[in-house]
Amino acid sequence: MTRSTSTILGIESSCDETAAAVVTNGSLVLSNIIASQHNLHEKFGGVVPEVASRAHIEKILPVIEQALSEANTTLDQIDAIAIGNRPGLIGSLLVGLSAAKALAWSLQIPLIGIDHVHAHLYAGALDESPPEYPALGLVASGGHSSVYAVDSPHDIKLLGKTIDDAIGEAYDKVASILQLGYPGGPIVDKRAQNTPQPKNLRFPRTMLEPDSLDFSFSGIKTAVLYHVRGNPQGRGRDRTFPRDASDLTEEQITETCAAFQHAAVDTVIKKLDRALTLTQNSDTPYRTLLVGGGVSANSLLRQSTTEFAQANNLQIRLPRMAYCLDNAAMIAGLAHHKFISNEFDTFDLPAVATSAL
Ligand code: KG4
Ligand code: ZN
Repeated sequence: MTRSTSTILGIESSCDETAAAVVTNGSLVLSNIIASQHNLHEKFGGVVPEVASRAHIEKILPVIEQALSEANTTLDQIDAIAIGNRPGLIGSLLVGLSAAKALAWSLQIPLIGIDHVHAHLYAGALDESPPEYPALGLVASGGHSSVYAVDSPHDIKLLGKTIDDAIGEAYDKVASILQLGYPGGPIVDKRAQNTPQPKNLRFPRTMLEPDSLDFSFSGIKTAVLYHVRGNPQGRGRDRTFPRDASDLTEEQITETCAAFQHAAVDTVIKKLDRALTLTQNSDTPYRTLLVGGGVSANSLLRQSTTEFAQANNLQIRLPRMAYCLDNAAMIAGLAHHKFISNEFDTFDLPAVATSAL
């Protein structure tokens, strides 16, 4: 039986957000519930996998119940269960995956496994009309910084990825160097917002070889470290720095955030420009720029990608703020396209640490 409409319950538990959402027909979001664990991981300065999986176990059922009740939907109205089964922390993925399998099995409805990175590229289609393809895609998050050629929601080719830190990871590390708290991306963004590139402080834009579409963010992060703490003496565990962030004035901290933000975003835009030049097919040019991942909430990235798209005659698809960070609406939305072509998974669907790409 082929159907063109769907009401799908999506579940997401790949990292430190337990999320469930109900989405109809791949775009209309009826509910989008996210239980964040940031307070549990804050004191460690990063996600602790074992702590994350335990918290998912506590949150998963209440989050699913809330998603159904806010959507005013009962389980018998759900056509399929969608689950982000890769990539992520295995212990975390398994919690959501087990819940999804149990629900699909007991309700006797299809189970649909979704790649979390594909879903980030789909987030800009939620509560919107379908994007036009082919598209150039960017995922900028805590785990990924990659560019893609996207021919349809599920036909995605990786063009380049980070060879070291992801951009969100660099944001979090810079916030840690500046002693600003966790997760650092939104804090650094807030400090940097509306501050132009400082005249006397410019961090490197790492572009790698002229034909490379890969990213590297660890150099910018190290430049920030040495700027804030001075040149280190000694090596390895004996390495010491002459000062730390507490020696900086508030203005210096703001200036450092702004200089980092300009360097990070500038690097992304330069890479998108390079991707356009190197991969655009003149017979079927890109029509859209799809942007997704936690860092797509960033004020400068949103502004700069919008300007880049305008300058290159591309439509821009930035997710609404609620769909930038990890969420289950993007999982349920993307699953619609598998549902209508009867692409279902079996109950041996595995949790996988890496992306399919
Ligand atoms: O997509 P996401 O929720 O998780 C992953 O799949 O990684 O992204 C989380 C990342 C974190 O590194 C966080 O600091 C960053 O997104 N982030 C931001 C902003 N909001 C979240 N980075 C820069 N500016 C923001 N406004
Ligand atoms: Zn993510």
